[in-house]
Amino acid sequence: MKAAAVFPNRKSLEVVNDFPEPKMESPTAVKLRVLTVGVCGTDREIASFQYGFPPPAGSEFLVMGHECLGEIVEVGPEVQDFKPGDLAIPMVRRPCDHPECLACRAGRQDFCYTGDYRERGIKQMHGFLTELIVDEARYMNPVPPAIRDVAVLVEPLTIAEKGLIQALQIQKRLPWGGALKAVVLGAGPVGLLGAMALRRAGFSVTVYSRSREPDESADIVKAIGAKYISSQDRSIEQMAAEVGNIDVVYEATGASQLAFDVLAVLGTNGLFILTGVPGKHGPISLDTDTIMRNLVLKNQCVLGTVNAGKDAFQSAVADLTSFRATWPEAVKNLITGRFPLEKFAEPIHNQTGIKNIVEISK
Ligand code: BGC
Ligand code: ZN
Repeated sequence: MKAAAVFPNRKSLEVVNDFPEPKMESPTAVKLRVLTVGVCGTDREIASFQYGFPPPAGSEFLVMGHECLGEIVEVGPEVQDFKPGDLAIPMVRRPCDHPECLACRAGRQDFCYTGDYRERGIKQMHGFLTELIVDEARYMNPVPPAIRDVAVLVEPLTIAEKGLIQALQIQKRLPWGGALKAVVLGAGPVGLLGAMALRRAGFSVTVYSRSREPDESADIVKAIGAKYISSQDRSIEQMAAEVGNIDVVYEATGASQLAFDVLAVLGTNGLFILTGVPGKHGPISLDTDTIMRNLVLKNQCVLGTVNAGKDAFQSAVADLTSFRATWPEAVKNLITGRFPLEKFAEPIHNQTGIKNIVEISK
């Protein structure tokens, strides 16, 4: 089989032509034909050796790809919930082996305590940029055929869904239910999908991002009934004054200076959700007195969130189905580039458009 891989020692991205076909090794396994795989900032960091995780033991390369849509082609004798022909999205993270890790033992490896979790296509396990994959059925999430054309967006949407699930839990601290003004930082795929999820949850949404209009991301923002503000036209203070009391910030840029500058304008009883993983650029200076005063005097909360559980995958599938029905063009316009497996390195090396995907089979 063909597979798209990163070779850390050679510092290269290469197509492997003789990657062995995976075998069904347990009665609860499923085999999938990979249809499409999305490329994201995490892949770019892996490929630029900034987020360097070792390949699986004994391999000189790591097969990349963690945002996958596949079609089930074979199921083990004990699999009940899937049959050949079904569409599924695999989860990314697998639990650590430590008996004392309460999160992994509870099936919530997205909250792993030990850091010894593995992630397909990212950390110590081959990913999905290949023709066939085998995995345990419990890591599969069913997808209705109605969203086949956009279902590759489910995994990046789970990041927002996990954030939103926690946001709604945290804001339950406000007996009147809280208020619903959100700011999204960044208009890449994670930001735009987050903006859609927040809109669907009833928030008014302002997306604050660099590019000036005309801009394809800004068009999507407007199509979903949100407001777009370019950081080149309005300072953070001006943006905050336009929004009013900011109840939720959903950060999707990975730019730490921007994030902490915006933290200074978070509203009373506000929640700041961080999802970006910044590269290490060295220390910056921050007005920590103002930030800490605000956190206390305004009852604020800062939340970091990574990866996702089954609940977030379910919400993502339900939400994407609804987005696809409500804003069909906006959702399709998120996918701006399609590449064959042989050219997988192109969208990783040159970020163009919004979401680039690799098409492996139809
Ligand atoms: C993936 C997550 C993963 C995270 C950290 C993200 O791009 O979507 O599933 O946990 O990277 O590796
Ligand atoms: Zn990703």
